[in-house]
Amino acid sequence: MGDGRPHGDATGIEQHTASQADRGRDRLIETYRKKAKHYDVTSRLYPVPGYPHGALRRRAVQAFGLRAGDSVVDIACGTGLNFPLIEEAIGPGGRIIGVDLTDAMLAHARDRIAANGWSNVSLVHADAAEFEFPARVSAILSTYALSQVPDCAAVIARGAAALAGGGRWVVLDVKVPDNTPRRLTQLGTALVRPHAAIDEWIMRRPWEAIRAAMQDELADLSWTELLFGTAFLAAGSRRSLTAGDGRLVGSPGLPGEHAGPAAGIGGQRPG
Ligand SMILES: C[S@@+](CC[C@H](N)C(=O)[O-])C[C@H]1O[C@@H](n2cnc3c(N)ncnc32)[C@H](O)[C@@H]1O
Repeated sequence: MGDGRPHGDATGIEQHTASQADRGRDRLIETYRKKAKHYDVTSRLYPVPGYPHGALRRRAVQAFGLRAGDSVVDIACGTGLNFPLIEEAIGPGGRIIGVDLTDAMLAHARDRIAANGWSNVSLVHADAAEFEFPARVSAILSTYALSQVPDCAAVIARGAAALAGGGRWVVLDVKVPDNTPRRLTQLGTALVRPHAAIDEWIMRRPWEAIRAAMQDELADLSWTELLFGTAFLAAGSRRSLTAGDGRLVGSPGLPGEHAGPAAGIGGQRPG
């Protein structure tokens, strides 16, 4: 751990220290502590009122093809908005493990669990980057969260290694449409995310890292651009030793949707 300040080396180039990452994480926790109480209502207004969150969550869960008795890890589960959909699919014989960094978000998830009388959900207060996935889990889900995790690629890799044969990883998240001019991107994101570390997120382009990691770690990757490229749904299966290398599957497009192969990372439109 450093002293919390950027360090310059002999060339004057700023060294990024571990404490900068810690500060980013502390800020994120503070943000979600403030949001937690009203998250279930305010998240419906993000990124714009009328955004089809419910339909997209349902679609993400359907992408698993879950069966009764399956086990599901919900990475950065927040207040547990995915839990009812998962419960519906896995039944009381299945298991949900919700992981989140923010204590206040987990407190609301705990209330939801109690209110529904679910006895098959456990919550883990952890950074996704440090979470140890249970072995042979059937499914791993992350909605509207993985792009906030700096080392999202490593999380995908560790999750993929923990999946049971036939197990699936599904990510639903927001992104910047390809070929959007930088200024327009900044303006648009500032309007919908007034308090977020927008520049850092835009510069980092985490959806590309997510796509590349899923391409590397999973088979049968499908990547579907939603709502004119402002969101994506990605799903892939545990790669078996005999399977081919990441066969790509696109799903039929709806208006504003673009499904395609996971090649073309780096701002190019999938062909
Ligand atoms: C926008 S909310 C999404 C919550 C939930 N997945 C949903 O769909 O409603 C983002 C969540 O990600 C969590 N989060 C962000 N970074 C995280 C990390 N590194 N590890 C675990 N959780 C994280 C936050 O605490 C917050 O609860």
